[in-house]
Amino acid sequence: MIDFELQYTRFRYYLTYLTDLRYGGFFGGFRKTRYGHLGAHSTMSSYYFVLSRLFGNFPIKDSDVLVDVGCGRGRVVNWWLRKGCRNRIVGIELDGTIAAEAQRAFRNYGNVEIVHGNALGHIPEDGTVFYLYNPFDRDVMTQFKDRVKERCTRWNEVRVYYVNCEFLDAFRGDPDWTVATNCEEFKGDAAWPVRGLDVGMSYPVAVLEPSAHAIGSRQMDEWGNGTYHLERVTGVQQG
Ligand SMILES: C[S@@+](CC[C@H](N)C(=O)[O-])C[C@H]1O[C@@H](n2cnc3c(N)ncnc32)[C@H](O)[C@@H]1O
Repeated sequence: MIDFELQYTRFRYYLTYLTDLRYGGFFGGFRKTRYGHLGAHSTMSSYYFVLSRLFGNFPIKDSDVLVDVGCGRGRVVNWWLRKGCRNRIVGIELDGTIAAEAQRAFRNYGNVEIVHGNALGHIPEDGTVFYLYNPFDRDVMTQFKDRVKERCTRWNEVRVYYVNCEFLDAFRGDPDWTVATNCEEFKGDAAWPVRGLDVGMSYPVAVLEPSAHAIGSRQMDEWGNGTYHLERVTGVQQG
């Protein structure tokens, strides 16, 4: 009997491999993490179709500073470059061996910086687009979102793209973030109104932005007008 799911997975794997080659290198493969005790997940690379759908729906602005949190071998960084982004790009990777590979791969790009270290201690102050492919557990995710809020000087422009958003509930009860997702399991909680997200795929993703309340309170202190980006939302889910 033909196992269609297995065949489809293989097909997708080969397609991804070919796309890697077309984009100038091999950025795939699986590396088991040595940092499970720090809440880290293993290294595997994002699917190209997810990147296309996500950033097709949420275009990158010239002024954005792009951050791949847990950049692994650098497929996302490479994809941004191949799509013509001339933005400042920062990849942060906990595993030194993998970070060194990524540093080698992008050594000729003046706009790319690959940082070896724990993302919690290396959030770029000027970052606006934060991409996360499920890099770590709930505890680290909770700390991460709080650090972004504390550190980012362009807070009103921040968007967090959380792909395979297993620990989206780290944002539950935090009034400073607006959450939109295509993932059903987080909807229907009256105490935590999560918005729907239509990005033309069922692969679980979430987009997070500072809430109007959070922008408002910070604006009064330090910044000019905030902007509100979540235009692809499909309405607040009621419990
Ligand atoms: C699933 S991979 C994603 C790779 C890449 N972002 C992509 O989408 O192709 C997650 C990566 O996050 C890294 N990571 C986990 N915890 C981290 C942390 N606290 N700081 C920086 N990197 C971390 C892991 O070592 C792993 O390489």
